[in-house]
Amino acid sequence: MLELKNITKVYTKGDDRFPALDNVTLTVERGDFIAVVGPSGSGKSTLLHTVGGLNQPDNGQVLYDSEDVYKMHSRKANLYRRKSVGFVFQQFHLIPYLTVSENIKVALDEPGSRSQKINELLEKCAMSQLQNKYPSELSVGEKQRTAFIRAIISEPDILLADEPTGNLDPENSRVLMSLINDFNKNRGTVLLVSHEVETTSFANRVITLHSGKVINK
Ligand SMILES: Nc1ncnc2c1ncn2[C@@H]1O[C@H](COP(=O)(O)OP(=O)(O)OP(=O)(O)O)[C@@H](O)[C@H]1O
Ligand SMILES: [Mg+2]
Repeated sequence: MLELKNITKVYTKGDDRFPALDNVTLTVERGDFIAVVGPSGSGKSTLLHTVGGLNQPDNGQVLYDSEDVYKMHSRKANLYRRKSVGFVFQQFHLIPYLTVSENIKVALDEPGSRSQKINELLEKCAMSQLQNKYPSELSVGEKQRTAFIRAIISEPDILLADEPTGNLDPENSRVLMSLINDFNKNRGTVLLVSHEVETTSFANRVITLHSGKVINK
């Protein structure tokens, strides 16, 4: 369903060059659960952003059902980013002037829809009492769980999760991993960046990045 072909990305700042991805090729099948590991700065977040249609590579292609994500017309590209992909950003990217429940509903076409599912997920993530708070009033782990619910509420095909348990205590981390596992069992495709060995144990494949290169597959 997803094919990355020879992806290269170099960030530049003035004359400085920061290579982030170096000729990355990867095929992802529907229902795959892929863990992406590697040292800090190895290109993991860049890879996820590139797959998510948020970061155009300098070279190479990202194909979703054989169509180049970066050559889609803007309407289709927006649909891909909004419907096909759910993203948990490493820095959460919650909207500061919206409450927890409003932030989650941003992912829905109809704000009033799926309220039962939202309540269920808030409950599971121990967030029910916090749904009227603003991001600045939340702990880091609470922001992370809000970002996670927002990413899966619209039932995307692909979940791109950048260290989604990085700030969670063991109990919340376990709950969130079991929700990701449920998502995957329902044919959802998962690309998960993680430093924690326990979370990679759910994956059917682990790929390791090193200086922007995939060193195993
Ligand atoms: N916007 C940017 N401008 C310039 N360089 C960048 C930018 N974003 C990332 N980089 C550089 O690209 C490389 C890969 O960064 P990336 O964020 O993908 O790494 P990462 O593997 O996610 O690291 P971490 O584990 O710390 O989150 C790093 O050298 C980083 O400094
Ligand atoms: Mg990162």
